[in-house]
Amino acid sequence: MSELETLERTLLADIDAAGDEGSIEAVRVGALGKKGSISELLKTLGTMTPEERQTRGAQINALKTTVADAITARKSALKDLAIAERLARETVDISLPVRSSPAERGRIHPISQIVDEITAIFGDMGFSIAEGPDIETDYYNFTALNFPEGHPAREMHDTFFFNEDDKGERKVLRTHTSPVQIRTMEAQDPPIRIIIPGKTYRQDSDATHSPMFHQVEGLVVDKSANVANMRWVLEEFCKAFFEVDQVTMRFRPSFFPFTEPSFEVDIQCDRSGPIVKFGEGTDWMEILGCGMVHPNVLRSGGLDPDEYQGFAWGMGLDRIAMLKYGMPDLRDFFSADVRWMNHYGFRPLDMPTLFGGLSA
Ligand code: DAH
Repeated sequence: MSELETLERTLLADIDAAGDEGSIEAVRVGALGKKGSISELLKTLGTMTPEERQTRGAQINALKTTVADAITARKSALKDLAIAERLARETVDISLPVRSSPAERGRIHPISQIVDEITAIFGDMGFSIAEGPDIETDYYNFTALNFPEGHPAREMHDTFFFNEDDKGERKVLRTHTSPVQIRTMEAQDPPIRIIIPGKTYRQDSDATHSPMFHQVEGLVVDKSANVANMRWVLEEFCKAFFEVDQVTMRFRPSFFPFTEPSFEVDIQCDRSGPIVKFGEGTDWMEILGCGMVHPNVLRSGGLDPDEYQGFAWGMGLDRIAMLKYGMPDLRDFFSADVRWMNHYGFRPLDMPTLFGGLSA
């Protein structure tokens, strides 16, 4: 076997054996690089006689072509192999279900949902939201709202009192959201149109009462607010909230220290089935208290009752949430049970709006 044939065999065997792009490149440099074995042979062409060049020269050139082609072929085969390997390694099982994101799995608590729904409804009517502290002074919770000192209504609220502070004052956990009426009147000039959603506290606990519960208060003060306006606002609210075309409401005379006249409002409903239906039926259910703001309350807020008048209402959020969504026990609302949340909670991206639907 000639020396060229031996070289060809060795090089082709090396090319075959090269397992990755690095080793094939090493073979290429060893044969065709500046100092490669074939390059060295090519350098001898210049010293050959014309006859030699025709025979041996042609053989060397043929060897170069063979080896170069073999290297190119092997390189591309190795590339394909590398891709195939990588594809095999990185397979994704697209038949697996997509893992749900936290935004999918999380749930909005029904109380937050109800606050969002109520905000959407009253926001549409031009109301804004006001807030106040959970820990209140006796003044804001009672006195400024026209509860006389020693009046039995103070006891009716089953108030949580704090111990006396340095000044001998006993703060309270607010028993209703009404103190924010006074705080708002102090801070802002009429016309006032606000709702006040928030936590409230009373010493009470059973299936429909929790020591911490939620109310939403409403307050309108301007120069001409009247009972007819109030009735319209409350009716529009109930229709939107219970998502029915019409509601029948009943205004019963009642008493609250901070309103005069005062009413309790019932809504007509059908309680014959497992879920209460509104806008139909022959039963009545009390849903809120309301009235014209008492002149003394306007005075506490720094307003002149001869110039301004207003109406206000307050209702239990938890209670209307239970009614609307058929949740039987209020205590479950605050027991932080994830199974309850998964059942009664709302999907985080389904925001309540009047155009998109409140509880869609
Ligand atoms: N604050 C009352 C309560 O907790 C509810 C209420 C009734 C609020 C009548 C009002 C109102 O603003 O006008 O029972």
